[in-house]
Amino acid sequence: MSTTITLKNIEIILAFLTLFSDKEAKLYDIQTEPLTLNPYCYSKEFDSFITSVYQENFVIDFDWTAWENEAHRFVTDPELLTLADISTLQKLFTTHVRKERFCSGHLAGMIENGHFLAIFNRLQAIHAALMLQNAHNNGRPKMIKQTSVFQGDITQLQVDAIVNAAKNSLLGGGGVDGAIHRAAGPELLAECRQLHGCATGEAKITKGYKLPAKWVIHTVGPIWYGGNQGEDEMLARCYRNSLTLAEQYQIKSIAFPAISTGVYGFPLERASRIAIAEVNKFLHSHKSLEQVIFVCFGQSAYDCYLKVVQELAES
Ligand code: APR
Repeated sequence: MSTTITLKNIEIILAFLTLFSDKEAKLYDIQTEPLTLNPYCYSKEFDSFITSVYQENFVIDFDWTAWENEAHRFVTDPELLTLADISTLQKLFTTHVRKERFCSGHLAGMIENGHFLAIFNRLQAIHAALMLQNAHNNGRPKMIKQTSVFQGDITQLQVDAIVNAAKNSLLGGGGVDGAIHRAAGPELLAECRQLHGCATGEAKITKGYKLPAKWVIHTVGPIWYGGNQGEDEMLARCYRNSLTLAEQYQIKSIAFPAISTGVYGFPLERASRIAIAEVNKFLHSHKSLEQVIFVCFGQSAYDCYLKVVQELAES
């Protein structure tokens, strides 16, 4: 059996990240109860995750029973994970997922105590590094080397700064804004209160608090009124102003959500063209930023961004 891990394998597994980062989903997704039914009776999503872990070479043929103590060290000393390479992650996935076949509560426990999510976060960091390396090696024409498209939850990313699609008050809301405030904790709202709002198209910065990201750049996208109210230019300004702020704070890596494409109703493809074009333009003339990640929430947004990136590369 091949045990090769490619960017593609990693992306397929990372697509399941949200399954483990949503607290509400945990017990539902692994239905160990009621045991009288079937301890291995999973939700559809969880079942396809297990299948993918096997198919994508994250479960490998090795003596995981002899490695149990080593696996346990990663649970008790989470710092160790920051040094784990991809073959160590394969062993960890194998130990925890395969073991679960024999002991229904094991993987559920690893998800409950956050260890499984930590493994995913490490995988994500490895993925980002590989993307960067890949882009440099292959040098996509017209597409700036430092950019990548990632599908998942922006609050999980270990980058210097994540961008928030905020509202004018900067006092939190739903969508990505809500997710960022929840993950950062109440201190973020307290700092936001000191900023006295933000005009549409502008950007303001705060610390990231409990987020893995050090900074949050809050920008307010335009509400979509049909496209004739200056929405395109306003959205472009969100990207420009966020990037300018990032440069002022010597930020090296930054992740953007698809600003305005949720509650504010901006058509996704049109918004993604603006986002990618503005970032490319900025990176051409500014050298300080090393990595820009476009974060897509869901498969259709991811497919859309990849299509636009591809078109821009070929144009
Ligand atoms: N990670 C990454 N992207 C996310 C996440 C997440 N955790 N959650 C949502 N998204 C995506 C959405 O799928 C959408 O494509 O972010 C994009 C922007 O959607 P919204 O969060 O709805 O933001 P926007 O359209 O700019 O509307 C802003 O929504 O919640 C309010 O306070 C916010 O009033 C403001 C408005």
